[in-house]
Amino acid sequence: MRKLPWIIKYRPKKLDDVVNQEKAKEKLTKWVELWLKGIPEEKAVLLYGPPGCGKTSLTEALANEYRLEFIEMNASDYRRKVDLDRIVRTAALQRSFTGKVKLILLDEVDGISGTADIGALEAILDIINVAKNPIVMTANDPWDPKLRPLRDVVVMVEFRRLTKTDVRKVLNRICGDEKLVCEEDAVDLIAERCEGDLRSAINDLEAVSEGYGKVTLELVKNMLRQRDRDYPPFDVVRKIFISKYAWQAKQAVQQTDLTPDELIQWINENLPRQISDPEDLWRAYDYLSKADLYMGRIVKTGNWDLLPYAIELMSAGVSLSVINDVKGKYRWVKYNFPQKVLIAAKTKESRQLRDSLAEVLAKHLNISKAVSKSDVIPFIKVIFDSNPEIAAKLALGLNISESMVRYLSPQNSSKIIELVNKFKVEAGKKAERLKREKISERKLGVKSRSGTLDNYFTGNP
Ligand SMILES: Nc1ncnc2c1ncn2[C@@H]1O[C@H](COP(=O)(O)OP(=O)(O)OP(=O)(O)O)[C@@H](O)[C@H]1O
Ligand SMILES: [Mg+2]
Repeated sequence: MRKLPWIIKYRPKKLDDVVNQEKAKEKLTKWVELWLKGIPEEKAVLLYGPPGCGKTSLTEALANEYRLEFIEMNASDYRRKVDLDRIVRTAALQRSFTGKVKLILLDEVDGISGTADIGALEAILDIINVAKNPIVMTANDPWDPKLRPLRDVVVMVEFRRLTKTDVRKVLNRICGDEKLVCEEDAVDLIAERCEGDLRSAINDLEAVSEGYGKVTLELVKNMLRQRDRDYPPFDVVRKIFISKYAWQAKQAVQQTDLTPDELIQWINENLPRQISDPEDLWRAYDYLSKADLYMGRIVKTGNWDLLPYAIELMSAGVSLSVINDVKGKYRWVKYNFPQKVLIAAKTKESRQLRDSLAEVLAKHLNISKAVSKSDVIPFIKVIFDSNPEIAAKLALGLNISESMVRYLSPQNSSKIIELVNKFKVEAGKKAERLKREKISERKLGVKSRSGTLDNYFTGNP
C-alpha cells in the first residue's frame, strides 16, 4: 500500500491538534457556533497568513469537530465563473438532506487572477450574499488590491507565522508517533530553517527519516547542504518567477553562481515565455530594465553598494509585478538559454579579431583602440568591400593576417588574399631586380638608387 505523506497523515483532526493560532481558533469557533444557532453575523471569513501555518488544516479540523459536511475547493476548481456557479451555488444555497450545515472552503482565493478569471470574484461575492452555509476563504496575501471588494464583506482572521517552538512541538510529536530516533539538535535545525512553514518542516523530517530510518544532526545538515547547492540557471529563473514573497525571490538569487548581469539575461529571455498578460509583462520588464540601469551604473562607477538595489529589482521586482495573471507564474513552460549569451559566444572570435585589428591600427595611426574601432575600422571595411586592390595594398602595408582580411570583407577576402600574394611575389621580384641592379651598378661604379619592399606600397620610389 502506498504510504501517506506525513503532511496528510499528521493533519490536525481536532482543533486541539492545531498548534498556536489561538486567536484564530476562538474567532472561528464563535463564528461557526452562530451559524449553527442560525444567527450568523457574517456569512464568510477570510483566513490569511504565511504558507504552512495551518489555515487549511484549521478549517478541516473545525469541520471535523463540529461534524459539518465539508466542501473544499481550490482556486483551480473555481477559476471560471461557470464552475463556480455550478458547484458553489448549490452548496452555498442548499442544506444537505439531513439539514446538516455545510462548511465551504474556497482555498487560496488570492490565486484568482484579476483579469484572466474575470467574473470569478464577482461570482464569489454574489454567493456570499445569498449563502445559506458558512464560507471560509484563505489567502496568503489578503491585501492584494483585487481582493478589496471581498475584504469588505468578510471577517478577516489573521494566522500567525509559526514559531520555532511550535514547529519543534509538532515534529517531536511525529517522531514519537513514528517511533523514530530523532536527535534534538536535528529537529532544532529543521525548525530553524523552515521559517515558520510547518509543511516544509514536516516534509524535511520525512525526507531524512525515509532515507536513513533515523534523524540525526549530521543527516539533516547533509540534506540542507545539498539543497543549498547552487541551482542551475533554469531552476533559479523558475524560483524567481513563482515566488509568492519578495524574500523567496531574493533567496533564489543567492542560490546561483550566475553573475547579476547573466541573471538579467536569463530573466530577460524567459519573461515573455512565462508571463503572458501584457500589463504584467510590462511591469516586470520595467523593473528588469531598472535593475539593468543599476548594473550599468555599478560597472561605470565601481560603486558596488548599489548591488542590493539591482538584485531587489530583478528578483522581487520582477516576481511581484505579476498581478493580473498570477496563475501564469506557476504554469510550466520550457525556458531558453539567453540568445544574447549564445550570440556573444558565437561572435567571440570575430570580436577578438576586431580587437586585435584595432590594436594594429591604433599603433599605426597613433590613436586609441576605441577610436580605431569606432572611427577607422568601419571605413576600412568599406574600402575592403569596394576596392580589393587598395585593400590588398593596405593589408600588406599593415601586415594584417588573413583572418583579419576575412573579418574586414568576407565577400572579397579570397580576392584580396590572392592579390596580396601576387603583390608579395611582385615585390620579391622587384627587390631581387633592384639587388641585381645594385650589384651591377656597384661593379660599374654607379651610385645606388634606394628602393626597397618597405616603400613599394607607400608610393615612395
Ligand atoms: N498550526 C498548525 N498545527 C498543526 N499542524 C500544522 C499547523 N500548520 C500547519 N500544519 C501542518 O502543515 C501542513 C500544511 O498546513 P496547511 O495546509 O494548513 O497550511 P496553510 O496555512 O493552509 O498553507 P498555504 O497558505 O500554503 O495553503 C498540514 O498538513 C499540517 O500537517
Ligand atoms: Mg492552505
